[in-house]
Amino acid sequence: MTALPSVELTVYPQDCDAFGHLNHATVLTLLERARWESLARGPGVDLFRRNGIAPVVRKAVVDYRAAAFPSDVLRVEMAVVHRGTTSWTIRHTANRVADDVLVAEAELVFVCLDRTGRPTPLPEEMARLFGPRTSSGHAARSVTVDGTELAVEVRGEGRAVLFVHGFPFDRTMWRHQLAGLSRWKRIAPDLRGAGESGAGTVEYSMGRYADDLIAVLDAVGVSQAVVCGLSLGGYILFELVRRFPERVRGVVLCDTRPQADSADARRNRDELTALAAQSGPDAVAERMLPGLLSPVTLADQPEVMTQCRDMARRWSVPGMVGALHAMRERPDSTAVLGTIRVPTLVVVGAEDKPTPPAVAEAMARAIPGARYAVIPGAGHIAPLEQPLATSRVLADFLEAIG
Ligand code: MLT
Repeated sequence: MTALPSVELTVYPQDCDAFGHLNHATVLTLLERARWESLARGPGVDLFRRNGIAPVVRKAVVDYRAAAFPSDVLRVEMAVVHRGTTSWTIRHTANRVADDVLVAEAELVFVCLDRTGRPTPLPEEMARLFGPRTSSGHAARSVTVDGTELAVEVRGEGRAVLFVHGFPFDRTMWRHQLAGLSRWKRIAPDLRGAGESGAGTVEYSMGRYADDLIAVLDAVGVSQAVVCGLSLGGYILFELVRRFPERVRGVVLCDTRPQADSADARRNRDELTALAAQSGPDAVAERMLPGLLSPVTLADQPEVMTQCRDMARRWSVPGMVGALHAMRERPDSTAVLGTIRVPTLVVVGAEDKPTPPAVAEAMARAIPGARYAVIPGAGHIAPLEQPLATSRVLADFLEAIG
């Protein structure tokens, strides 16, 4: 909780209703005045303008506790009680100075919008001012890597499994596996720019993502983990195997491929990058998602599409542009396959179009001793489309590792 400078304001006759009581709607105006005064005493009223963002109220809850009258002086105290990646909540209390009676309490939720009206992560200056990010209730903790806060969900105790999500998803795509697999310590970060993680200003690459994941493992005190990566998560896992093999206890490659992008795929990345920059994450989701889910999922589980849209919406534009760049430029990892010396499982949805079973099977054949499993009815996001079947295959594999 970060306190902001408190201010005192006078109630004027025009703030009051026909009966001389402070008008309920005017309370909000008064609180707004208090916030601007508070800014004037602290970082300056041009805080938002100089950071190129607009603070917009998304929700206001007011408790009116006692009447106030013309010429009453109210002391307004304010504190940031929640800070997310793109949003923050300010609690206000207004007490009459003369007798310290509580007149009103209010909580307002603000979202940070960029110049095009899209939610954007809080600029560094505001993040510093409002204090560290608070948890969203999903037990996410915050790990700071090179000044960027990454959200990491950690559940359970035991040997560690690190779940690395795909694009344009976030850690919640593993919700079923995080809720199950109770004999393992499940670690699921949001990659930079996704979910609740900040985007930072670095150049995105598989190397950068891999460094972030090693920093996450260090921060949660894990020296070795079974790493389970889906699609983009798999591309990053190849980088981990290449550079940090001693940190990888086992490998799960889910709906992914070792090859680099073809010329066509690179052109497609360029189009998606332009779309993300011009129209935002929603437009990218609309373009990509229908081709990722299986027809069975689309027909029988419309909520999976909703979850995917929600995940895409939580990406920041810089995060999306960065991920598309990193995927476009990623190296070919085919040569890594034969070097993998830890237990490996390759899982693929039977109806995965971007990384079909033929690709997954060839990948499994190239890894010494790898297991291979096809999940019926799933497309490109097997853990979310067919969670029971995917978790069962995963649990059997983890059990076998011991
Ligand atoms: C993913 O699921 O991460 C994406 O399909 C990866 C990609 O676009 O290559």
